[in-house]
Amino acid sequence: MRMNHLTVWSAVLLLSLTLAACGGGGSSSTSQPSGSAAQTESGSLDPEALAAEIGPVQQVSLGEQIDAALARQGEQLFNTYCTACHRLDERFIGPPLRDVTKQRGPVYIMNVILNPNGMIQRHPVMKQLVQEYGTMMTDMALSEEQARAILEYLRQVAENQ
Ligand code: HEC
Repeated sequence: MRMNHLTVWSAVLLLSLTLAACGGGGSSSTSQPSGSAAQTESGSLDPEALAAEIGPVQQVSLGEQIDAALARQGEQLFNTYCTACHRLDERFIGPPLRDVTKQRGPVYIMNVILNPNGMIQRHPVMKQLVQEYGTMMTDMALSEEQARAILEYLRQVAENQ
């Protein structure tokens, strides 16, 4: 009798362990990112991948050297469109931008310029900044080429401190 009980309990224990193991295995294999590039292995969001999902820019290729001509174009655009709210070295209506290329990725920066509303709604870094600055960056309807030139200028100012 006693042996029988033990045997039954062992069988139950074994069965439930097996079920738990199967269940665990099953759920971890279905937790693979289901088409979401923004999901990293640890489950946290990669800021560049999320910015690419929000768009419109998915990737940016950067030369190793700064393109000085492009940066000059970007400087003019920056002075026309951005200095109303941004300074390089001081907090103004928006955050200082000298080191932004060191702190953020190029896809994030391009998409903030081209799609500030989408980024404010969906990107946690921009959401946080809206809280902090209490103003929303406006959409200036720039072209991708213009945004790319500004990015080159911002890369340049980060190097020339
Ligand atoms: C009307 C004011 C305004 C204008 C114009 C503006 N911005 Fe902004 N910008 C902001 C504010 C405010 C934030 C902080 C996020 C928010 O509150 O929307 C911001 C955030 C940013 C960020 C994110 C900074 C970070 O640390 O992540 C970048 C990059 C940026 N702006 C670039 C630009 C560029 C480049 C231009 C010009 C093409 C520009 N902004 C024009 C107000 C402005």
